[in-house]
Formats: sequence, structure tokens, C-alpha cells
Amino acid sequence: MASVSIRKVYKSYGKVQVIHGLDLEIAHNEFVVLIGPSGCGKSTMLRMIAGLEDITGGEIHIGERVVNNVEPKNRNIAMVFQNYALYPHMTVFKNISFGLRAAKLPKHEVEKKVAEAARILGLEDLLLRRPSELSGGQRQRVSMGRAIVRDPQVFLFDEPLSNLDATLRHQMRTEIKLLHQKVATTIVYVTHDQIEAMTLADRIVIMRDGHIQQVGKPGELYHNPKNTFVAGFIGSPKMNMLPGEARSHNGAPHLALGEDLLIPLPDRGAHLREGQRVIMGIRPEDVVMVNGQAPGANSWLHDARINVVEPLGSESLLILELGGQSFTGKCAGRIEPAAGTTAQFALNLENMHLFDHESEQAIN
Ligand SMILES: Nc1ncnc2c1ncn2[C@@H]1O[C@H](COP(=O)(O)OP(=O)(O)OP(=O)(O)O)[C@@H](O)[C@H]1O
Ligand SMILES: [Mg+2]
Repeated sequence: MASVSIRKVYKSYGKVQVIHGLDLEIAHNEFVVLIGPSGCGKSTMLRMIAGLEDITGGEIHIGERVVNNVEPKNRNIAMVFQNYALYPHMTVFKNISFGLRAAKLPKHEVEKKVAEAARILGLEDLLLRRPSELSGGQRQRVSMGRAIVRDPQVFLFDEPLSNLDATLRHQMRTEIKLLHQKVATTIVYVTHDQIEAMTLADRIVIMRDGHIQQVGKPGELYHNPKNTFVAGFIGSPKMNMLPGEARSHNGAPHLALGEDLLIPLPDRGAHLREGQRVIMGIRPEDVVMVNGQAPGANSWLHDARINVVEPLGSESLLILELGGQSFTGKCAGRIEPAAGTTAQFALNLENMHLFDHESEQAIN
């Protein structure tokens, strides 16, 4: 077990710098998820921790040790990739025990470790099968088994679930979380799936173009995004984000969106200058069809035309035209409004986000 400390790490391929002085402290036993769009440097960062990629500048520590010049096999890490590359001609037992047998561990030790990993992963009945006789999720578990038996200090996962269908993804997500609870260990996990990040992580690291945008607990990133990039990246469906400007109306601060929409600003926005340009953010769950319910205390009511209804069962997503602007809102699944009708919506202004128009940083 160990902490991982990334200090001012740079990475260049030739003249192109792809990681720009990244700092990150990962605690012992912490589950950290690196997330960001394609090409932002997630895999590069993970491969540098693993030692599969040279570090151009800075230091990586695993536990007490600087590992910059330590061979991958001596770093006491285990890496699970997206394409889990099992040996097709070997049984599950042999695949899991490959590294142990190569290290000439005594036979009874090997059997004990494989039995323990198979128990944790529910593979006991499959040990004599070959990979071609397994489902995708079972293969994925075998590849995790291969990592577990090595008792690594740190597990590194690079998009391990991206080849699986939706049901299996969910199931494996649960199993990885259970695994972390059973085998207390430090995990660094790369994904571009924000739901995976939200559900698995103790802390999420959002990356963009080789820089960290924000680090925090899932709830922190969801409720207090530092900038429009994080606000748009976390949450599905996306936060509504609309440009507007501050305007005083009847002596009270408001936000003008387009020609027709004037929304009272919450206290946080009271200090904005007249005419200051901002981006307003509000999540779909804070734009809710009223439908006879008493709206919450901080709600602001407005009619909207429902252009599209997307039923999800428990709730429906509604694509709305509200005061000349397009919003995504929600209603309970049983309401079943018709497209083309108009209804009253409650916007929870308490949860409104405000971002500076130029810097795109949150305004507090
Ligand atoms: N061997 C290489 N030579 C040159 N450039 C590279 C090399 N490997 C990666 N890159 C570049 O480094 C950047 C980061 O790549 P990386 O693989 O870390 O992205 P990623 O965040 O894992 O993306 P994805 O989600 O698509 O896997 C990309 O712009 C990529 O083109
Ligand atoms: Mg990658």
C-alpha cells in the first residue's frame, strides 16, 4: 500500500509538450479517477506512473521512494488495460498465475494466491476454462485477477471497461468498487466516462490539454465546478449554460438572457456591475415542470414550450423554449406531457451557477 505523489511533472514527445507541470497528491488507499477528453494526457500520466513512459521533468514518488529511474517491474504496481490481452492458449488459472510462476513462486503459494483472487472475483468455477470460453466481463475479471495476485502497492487502470456493453459495464463498475473495499489499495483509474468517474472515485481529477482543471470529490465537482469546462464535463444531461448580462430591474439585480428573459440574480450575483457579461449555468434537475406541485422557496416560475419529450421511465427530459432560450428541464416520468404544449416551470435559482464571460471561471 502506498501514496502516489506527482510533482511538477512534464512530458514532451519531441518538441510537443503534452503534460505541463502537473501536481497531484494521491493518498494511501485512495481511489482517484483521471478524466478528460480524448488526447488530454490521461494515459500518458498513467503510463508515467507505471514507468512505461519516460518523464521529461519533475518527480513521481510511490510511497517514500522517487521512482523516476525505477524499472516498471520494480515499482510494485499492477496495470489493467482496456484490451486485457489474456494468453488465449492458457486457462484462467494459468493466466492469473503467469507472473507468479515466472517469478518462480512455490506451487502451493501460487495456488493459494490464485484461489484468493478467484474468490474475490467470483472466478472459482472458471479456473480451467480458456479465454475464448468466457464472456467479456469474465475476461475482464481474469485480467484483474492477474493484477491482484501480485499484491501491488498501486493499481493502475486505463479505461478497463470501455469494451463492455452497458449492463456489463455497470456490473463491473460495482465489482471494481467492491474490490477496492475488500483489497484496501491505492487506485488510479483513467476513463472518459463521467458516470464511471462519479460513481467510483473518492476524488476526481479533471484534465484538459495536459493541465488539471479541478480536483475534488464527485459532489464538489458537480455542485461547485470552478469553470465552464468542468461544469459542462460533469453531469448528464449537461448543465444549461447561457450567455447573459447583469441588469438592474425595479432596483433589483437581474440577469438578461437574450431579448426576452430577465431572471432575478441570487445574492451571489448581487455585486455584478451593470452590463457585466456572464455565463449562467443551471442543471436540468433545477428546471422542473410544476404540474400542480408547490414549487420550492427559491423557485422562479416561467412558462415554457415543451419542444421534445425524452422519457427515461423514472423521469423525462424535456427540451424547452423558455423566454426565447433553449433549456433542458425535467419532469417526473408519470407526467407524460405532450410535445408542443406549454407548461409552467420552476427554476431553482439557489443552484444557479455564474461564470465570467471572458475567463470562464466561476464567480463566487
Ligand atoms: N508516442 C507518442 N508520440 C507523440 N505524441 C504522443 C505519443 N503518445 C501520445 N501522444 C500525444 O499525447 C497526447 C496525450 O495522449 P494520451 O494518450 O495520454 O491521451 P488520453 O487522454 O489518454 O486520450 P484517450 O482518451 O483518447 O485515450 C495526445 O495529444 C497524443 O497525440
Ligand atoms: Mg488514453
